[in-house]
Amino acid sequence: MADFNSEFWHWYIAILTVISILACVWLIRWMTSGFQHSDEVESTGHIWDEDLTELNNPLPRWWLGLFYITLAFGGFYLLLYPGLGTFGGLLGWTSKGAYEQEIEKVEAEVGPLFAGYQQTPILDLIKDENALKIGERLYLNYCSTCHGSDARGARGFPNLRDNEWQWGGDPESIRTTLHNGRIAAMPAWEAALGGESGVNEVTQYILRLSGRATIDELADKGKAKYDVFCVACHGLEGKGNPALGAPNLTDDVWLYGGSITRISESLIKGRNGQMPAQLDRLGEAKIHLLTAYVYSLSQEK
Ligand code: HEC
Ligand code: HEC
Repeated sequence: MADFNSEFWHWYIAILTVISILACVWLIRWMTSGFQHSDEVESTGHIWDEDLTELNNPLPRWWLGLFYITLAFGGFYLLLYPGLGTFGGLLGWTSKGAYEQEIEKVEAEVGPLFAGYQQTPILDLIKDENALKIGERLYLNYCSTCHGSDARGARGFPNLRDNEWQWGGDPESIRTTLHNGRIAAMPAWEAALGGESGVNEVTQYILRLSGRATIDELADKGKAKYDVFCVACHGLEGKGNPALGAPNLTDDVWLYGGSITRISESLIKGRNGQMPAQLDRLGEAKIHLLTAYVYSLSQEK
């Protein structure tokens, strides 16, 4: 409610709302007054299909009653609940408060259950069907928007079902990934590699690393550049380094795509994938269950 940056909007909305309601009252009174109760019914003068005449009868009482009830409801509602500008309502209800109350209720219910699981080591949890079911539900709630509902990822969002890990796939590494998030730092290389030709050479070398056919002359030049600029993170053999999140370049698993175009794009633009930290959002207990679930995905096969 305090999102308005000036008092003006509070009054603007409050006054307009009150005037609108009063206008409705006035409109109803105006439309219903002036009828003489007699047996003669006036016609509005509209006639269709030769003899279908529109009459001007007063509105039925029950119908009018409904109108007045609606108006009174509106008035009381605005008195009790937030709605009139920044006026918070006499009940002090807020959507944030209602949300927190609901969360508290749920926490009280599932808290003890989660706390129990939290004491169980990951290697035991992955054998516990119920724990994995809860893990899956948590996953679908909190992770599937990015990693996909089947956890197979998409371009830029890693597949969590395979055995390829950028940041390590043992339970402790997965837990750290979830706790703190991960920020991958792969700088842009076009300038350092000497422009487009340098990018092409190194791209050819990466094709060689991943076991594909190359233009050898270019790939050889690419290797010289790779050994200067890339070994520090991706390693001499291109197998990557989980401490830095530098992916293995020798397999056919690609976060951003393994075609010549995609690899060149990775080199030209650099890549900075970010996995958001979850600790503040989910807490230890849920992360423990999620760690077990994610770990279990690459174990089933
Ligand atoms: C400072 C460490 C660092 C250096 C140096 C570095 N990289 Fe990377 N590279 C990374 C990281 C971290 C990622 C993952 C980026 C992400 O997840 O967003 C990455 C991603 C990539 C990718 C995308 C892989 C995929 O799966 O899609 C390619 C290709 C790549 N690097 C090639 C290179 C080449 C070639 C060089 C040398 C010119 C190089 N990198 C130098 C850290 C580095
Ligand atoms: C906003 C999108 C987003 C959400 C939400 C998200 N992730 Fe991620 N996650 C990413 C990205 C992007 C990466 C890759 C970071 C990089 O490039 O290194 C990643 C990386 C990971 C990794 C590391 C994979 C590896 O190969 O080492 C794991 C594990 C992971 N996420 C699990 C989860 C789980 C579990 C959740 C739910 C609690 C989750 N993520 C929610 C975007 C997201």
